[in-house]
Amino acid sequence: METVRVGLLGLGIVGSQVAERLECQRELVTERTGGPVELARVLVRDAAKQRTYLPSGAQLTTDASEILEDPGIGVVIELMGGMEPARTYIERAIDAGKPVVTANKEVMAHHGPELLQLAKRRGVDVYFEAAVGGGIPLISTFKIDLLANHISRIQAVINGTTNFIIDRMARDGAAFDDALAEAQRLGFAEADPTYDVEGWDAAFKLTIMSTIAFHGRIDPDAVYREGIRGLDPVDFRYAADMGYAIRLLAYARDHGDEVELRVHPALIPQSHLLAAVHDAYNAVVIEGDLVGTVLLYGQGAGGRPTASAVVGDVIDLVLSMRKGVDNRISVDVTRPRRVRPIDEVRTAAYLRLHVADRSGVLAEVAKILGDLGISISAVLQKQLIVEHAAAELVILTHPAREGDLRTARERLTALETVYGIPAFLRALIPEEAM
Ligand SMILES: NC(=O)c1ccc[n+]([C@@H]2O[C@H](COP(=O)([O-])OP(=O)(O)OC[C@H]3O[C@@H](n4cnc5c(N)ncnc54)[C@H](OP(=O)(O)O)[C@@H]3O)[C@@H](O)[C@H]2O)c1
Repeated sequence: METVRVGLLGLGIVGSQVAERLECQRELVTERTGGPVELARVLVRDAAKQRTYLPSGAQLTTDASEILEDPGIGVVIELMGGMEPARTYIERAIDAGKPVVTANKEVMAHHGPELLQLAKRRGVDVYFEAAVGGGIPLISTFKIDLLANHISRIQAVINGTTNFIIDRMARDGAAFDDALAEAQRLGFAEADPTYDVEGWDAAFKLTIMSTIAFHGRIDPDAVYREGIRGLDPVDFRYAADMGYAIRLLAYARDHGDEVELRVHPALIPQSHLLAAVHDAYNAVVIEGDLVGTVLLYGQGAGGRPTASAVVGDVIDLVLSMRKGVDNRISVDVTRPRRVRPIDEVRTAAYLRLHVADRSGVLAEVAKILGDLGISISAVLQKQLIVEHAAAELVILTHPAREGDLRTARERLTALETVYGIPAFLRALIPEEAM
C-alpha cells in the first residue's frame, strides 16, 4: 500500500498534538487507514522556536509552497487559525487536488460553502470536524447519523472560555473581571479574550453547525450576537432564586422559511441539560423529528481533544481515498437560508430594574408590559438600595416578540419612577426549553 504523505500547516497547540499522534501512534493510524501515513512537512512562522513537540520524521518549513505545491503531498491539514493566509492556503490546496482537514471555524463559517463547492468541482474532500466543539463529534453527527431527520432546534453551550467564567460568577459570586483573570491565569482564556467573551467564537460555531444541520448557506454576520461582559453576579443569585442558571446560549431553530440564530447570555431552567454544563465543558442539545432529543457533551477545546477530531478526520479521509470512495458532504450548502431578524424572534426576558421605593410602581411597569402584549411570569422585589431610596425589581416575562421587549425597555427607562434597567437578559422558560 502506497504511503500517504501529509503536509501540516501550523504546529501550535493543536498542530503539535496532531503531529505527535501521527508520529507516535503510527501503528494505530496505519492499521485504521489500511496503510502507512507519513507526516512529511510542517509549516511554521518561526522555525527556530522552542516546541512542545518537534516532529522527528517531518521537515519544518516557513514556505507554504513547499507543501501546497509538492505533488508528493496527498493531504493537507490546516491548523494555523485566523482568516488569512489560512483561507488562501486551503483554497490553493484544493485547487492543487489535495483534500484538506481543518479546524478553522473563522474560515469555515465565512467561506465553508464556497470551499466545499470548490472541493466538489476539484473532486476532493474537505473535513472540518474540529472547527466546531473540539473533540465533540458534531459535524459527523449531522453529516451522517442524523441525516434522516429534519433538525428543528439546536441549543448549545459551545464556548468553554465563557462557560468557565460564567461558572465562576455563579458558584463563587465572582465579578466578571475577576473570573476572566482567573480563566486567563489557568489558560482557559486568551490574553485578548474578545473573540470568546464577545460571542464571536460561539457565533461562528453555530453558523457552521446550522449550515450542516439545516442544509443551507448561512451568513455568519446575520447571527445575532451578545457577549457576557455585562453580566453581574447579582443576576446569577436572582436567577437561582427563580430556579434558573445563566449560560452563554447558542440557539438555532429552523422555522422553514427562515432560520433563527442567536448567541447571547440567557436564563436556563435548572432542570435543563445545559444548566449542568460546568467549567470549560461544552454541550449541544439537538432535536430531530425522528430521533427526538440528542445530547452531545465533552471538551470543546484544548490541544488533545481537538487533535482527536483532526486525526479522526485524517483517518477517515485516507481510508476513503484508499477505498476509492468520495466522502463528500451530502448536504446542499448552496441554498441560502434567510436569518430571522432579531426583532421578530420570540423569547422570554429577565429584567432587573431600579425603581422608586413607593407604591404603584409595579402597576405602572405592568401596564407598559401589558400594553405591548407582554405577560409577566414572575416578579421578585429585592432589597432597598438605601442611598438612592430605590428598590430592585426583577421581572421574568413569558415569551414575547423581541421587538416588543425592546420597546418595553425603552418605555420603562423613560418612566420617572424607573431609575435604571441594569439587566435585560433573555430566558428559556421550562415549557419551551425541551
Ligand atoms: N486551541 C484550541 O483549543 C482549539 C480548539 C478548536 C479549534 N482550534 C482551531 O485550531 C486552529 C489552530 O489553533 P491553535 O490553538 O493550535 O493555534 P496556535 O497555537 O496559535 O498555533 C498556530 C500555528 O500556526 C502557525 N502559523 C500561524 N500563522 C502562520 C503563518 N502566517 N505562516 C506560517 N505559520 C503560521 C504558528 O507558527 P509558529 O509556531 O511558528 O508561531 C503556529 O505553529 C485554529 O483554527 C483554532 O481556531 C483550536
